[in-house]
Order: sequence, then C-alpha cells, then structure tokens
Amino acid sequence: MTNPAKPIRTTALSEYKRRGRKIAMLTAYDAAMARLLDQAGLDVLLVGDSLGMVVMGYPTTIPVTLDAMVHHTRAVANGAARALIVADLPFLTYQVSPEEALRSAGRLLQEGGAAAVKLEGGRAIAATVHRLVEAGIPVMGHLGLTPQAVHQLGGYRRRPESETAALLADARLLQEAGAFAVVLELVHPETARAISAELAIPTIGIGAGPHCDGQVLVSYDAFGLFPGPVPSFVKSYARLGEEMLTAAQAYIADVQEGRFPE
Ligand code: KIV
Repeated sequence: MTNPAKPIRTTALSEYKRRGRKIAMLTAYDAAMARLLDQAGLDVLLVGDSLGMVVMGYPTTIPVTLDAMVHHTRAVANGAARALIVADLPFLTYQVSPEEALRSAGRLLQEGGAAAVKLEGGRAIAATVHRLVEAGIPVMGHLGLTPQAVHQLGGYRRRPESETAALLADARLLQEAGAFAVVLELVHPETARAISAELAIPTIGIGAGPHCDGQVLVSYDAFGLFPGPVPSFVKSYARLGEEMLTAAQAYIADVQEGRFPE
C-alpha cells in the first residue's frame, strides 16, 4: 500500500509503467490549484509554460521568461505536498548551451522548488539532457508538437504518422541521455503506441491517443477556465469559468442591491 503523504519521485514513474499503472498529470500554476490537485491524488503537476497563454494571456508560450517560471513553480511547490513537480524550461533558456541550460534548470529547482524540468526537442537537445542528468537534475522530454517551435511548425498541428521513425529515434536518444519520461504531444496514436512499447521510461500523452503510459492536460482547458479555443482532444471535466461568472454576477447584484454585507 502506498503512503498518500509520501512524495512521488521521478523513479516511481518507471515503476508505474512496469506495473501497468497509468500516470495522471495536469498543469498547475499557483498554490491554491496545486493544493487541490495534490489532494485529488495527481501523480505529477506540470508547471507548464502554457501559463503564458492561459494565465498571462499571450498568444504563444514564447514570451514566457525564466523569472515567471520560477515565480509560478514556487507557488505550486508551496501548495503541493505529494505530487511530483515538473517545471518547463521556457524558450531560449536551454537551447544556447548545456551550461546555460544547467543554470536555468538549477533556478527552477533551487528557487522554484521543482523536482524536475521539462525540455522540448529530440536530437538537438540530447547532449543538454545528458548534461542536466549528469548534474543530478531529472529531465522530462517533450516530442511531437513542441509549442515553443510553433512558428517553425506552422501552427498547433498534429504530427503525421509518417514521422513515427524520426520521433522514435528522438525518443530513444532522450532515454539514452537519461530522461525519466517523455511527453508526446499531438503525435499519431500509432506513433505513441510504438514509442511507448519501445521505451522503458514512461510516455505521457496529450492528444496522442490511449496507448501512452500516462496522460496530461492543461488544467484550465479541462476545467473550463480558459475562454480561448480549446483543442478538440480535451475532455471537459468541469465548467469552472461559467461558475465563476455566475458567482461574480451574484456578488455584484448583492453589493448593488444591499444584500451584502448584511
Ligand atoms: O506547457 C504545457 O502545459 C505543456 C503541456 C501541454 C504538456 O507542455
């Protein structure tokens, strides 16, 4: 029996994969949300750079800074007691050199309180992943649709099945470099099946079908908090945005009509 208060370590995720126990991951950006998701029993909380879009209102994740990631990661770490906290390294904080990546990742662990970092890319960042892992920093990879490359990819489009061999090669390189898990975003379900079957480390899918070892969603999308267009693969678990709107309107009416304070 697992102790519910015992923090989940990166090493537990491969063990879950071996046992066929699926991994549940959601994004979190602040302490209140992190506390609730942790209490609900999420395995992993991702402080995603998606915060640039859903929290900060930018059209892409590109403007997100390392300072912003440290700030939100600290908040999530303050709220969660058990879930593994993984923080995204934002655009251009790890691509210039492995040394710069090491300093950036170090801030997310030291100042932010993350237990691991996530980087986008395959072959091009394998040496950087190796450098971070060598320094004791656990790394989660991210392949398929890599949102930081949205301008190069021409939009947030599903990766075609014809990319399976290339993505499999990238996934192998990430595993060899020491990554403890890899996110597969918007890859074809058969690509996800092939990579998940091949790797010993777990795959975490987002819009990648049912064959991954775990799933991740942007919590604001899944809980109806993001008013913008939500990807079609997202399952809606709540309509918190609508509830907040109704609650705010009730408050305004109470104040204006003298019902609050009584
Ligand atoms: O930033 C993020 O939220 C992510 C997920 C979409 C996996 O990287």
